[in-house]
Amino acid sequence: MSDTPSPAEPAGPAAVLVTGATGLLGHAVVDRLLAAGSEVTALVRDRERARALLPDHPGLRLVTGDITEPGSYRAALRGTDAVIHTAAYFREYYGPGHDLRRLYRTNVGAVEDLLRAAVDAGVPTVVHTSSIAVLGGGDTRAPADEDTPNGAPGRGNHYRASKILAERVVSAFGERHGLRVPMVLPAWMWGPGDAGPTSAGRLFRAVAAGSVRALPAAGNHVVDARDVADACVAAAVRGAAGRRYIVGGRWHPLHEICAAVVRAAGTGTVPRRMPRGAAMPLAALLEWGARARGREPVATRTGMRALLDGHHRRVSSARARRELGVAFRPLEETVTDQAGWHREHRRSPGAGPARRETRNA
Ligand SMILES: NC(=O)c1ccc[n+]([C@@H]2O[C@H](COP(=O)([O-])OP(=O)(O)OC[C@H]3O[C@@H](n4cnc5c(N)ncnc54)[C@H](OP(=O)(O)O)[C@@H]3O)[C@@H](O)[C@H]2O)c1
Repeated sequence: MSDTPSPAEPAGPAAVLVTGATGLLGHAVVDRLLAAGSEVTALVRDRERARALLPDHPGLRLVTGDITEPGSYRAALRGTDAVIHTAAYFREYYGPGHDLRRLYRTNVGAVEDLLRAAVDAGVPTVVHTSSIAVLGGGDTRAPADEDTPNGAPGRGNHYRASKILAERVVSAFGERHGLRVPMVLPAWMWGPGDAGPTSAGRLFRAVAAGSVRALPAAGNHVVDARDVADACVAAAVRGAAGRRYIVGGRWHPLHEICAAVVRAAGTGTVPRRMPRGAAMPLAALLEWGARARGREPVATRTGMRALLDGHHRRVSSARARRELGVAFRPLEETVTDQAGWHREHRRSPGAGPARRETRNA
């Protein structure tokens, strides 16, 4: 990822606050905005980690805060033209030992707080990050689009339920208060900057380490986080109020993704394909085995269920291509850049290159 402003990048809003700036998507949004010449305020929980991960750039200001505590970021909203909201309780849900109270507080309650704070501060636009997982339909015969109704927020997947509830909050709030809140719905994101790591980063590392023997014969829509970042910035500039934009990339079978990872990393082995019916018992074994050894499992049952749920789902990104000018880079480029990022950060996982102090709030 380049820290150097590129004059070729289309302009973003002049001043933007990015939540979740140390995350896979937020990091890409920060890079994209800086390259376009925006002044960026990054809301981060851990300043040291943010300094290590984010670029050293005079246009970047770090503000320490928590999205569930509006008092921690309210002052930072003043004078901004847009908020790009990517923070969420996401990777934690698909890891072991998640906290449902925090999930709903972060993904639903905090969204309403943020919208209210934006209105109070006179910020006209908030881009909300949703997910294609909210969509209630869509298959190979009829891919889902933005008119496809959302599913019901059932208890089978609390993360998905929280994202459905958040969309309801956004739609109701925006209409009442005249705030422009376009929504971006990404597919499964991959790419450089996955410091968390998310489920994609975990799978990348495990496949590159050769520690995954088998995976279900399943696939999913995969999208580069940098392409989603482009969509978020374009939505901040010209996304319509309450309008949804699916940013779905392309559907790939898992074995194809893993083969690309092995090629890009130059290490690891492509896991063999096993029947999808065996995937949940395998995930349970991985989880219990990891717990017994006090390690992080490669996959959890919640993560595996989400992966299998996505297998039949197909989405159309036609609106985002047409109205936001979104384009999708090939998978090979995504995992090659991801491999480069992992190599660069090998010495200390989760940390980036040293960053000089710039302006801080
Ligand atoms: N990744 C995917 O495949 C995918 C697919 C569809 C939709 N999405 C959505 O896309 C968005 C970005 O996801 P991602 O993949 O970038 O996730 P991620 O890498 O886990 O990043 C999440 C970010 O949110 C921050 N965060 C979490 N709780 C916070 C809190 N209480 N206060 C402030 N910051 C908080 C995290 O901070 P720390 O760095 O301090 O933990 C991190 O920077 C989310 O809305 C997610 O639901 C993701």
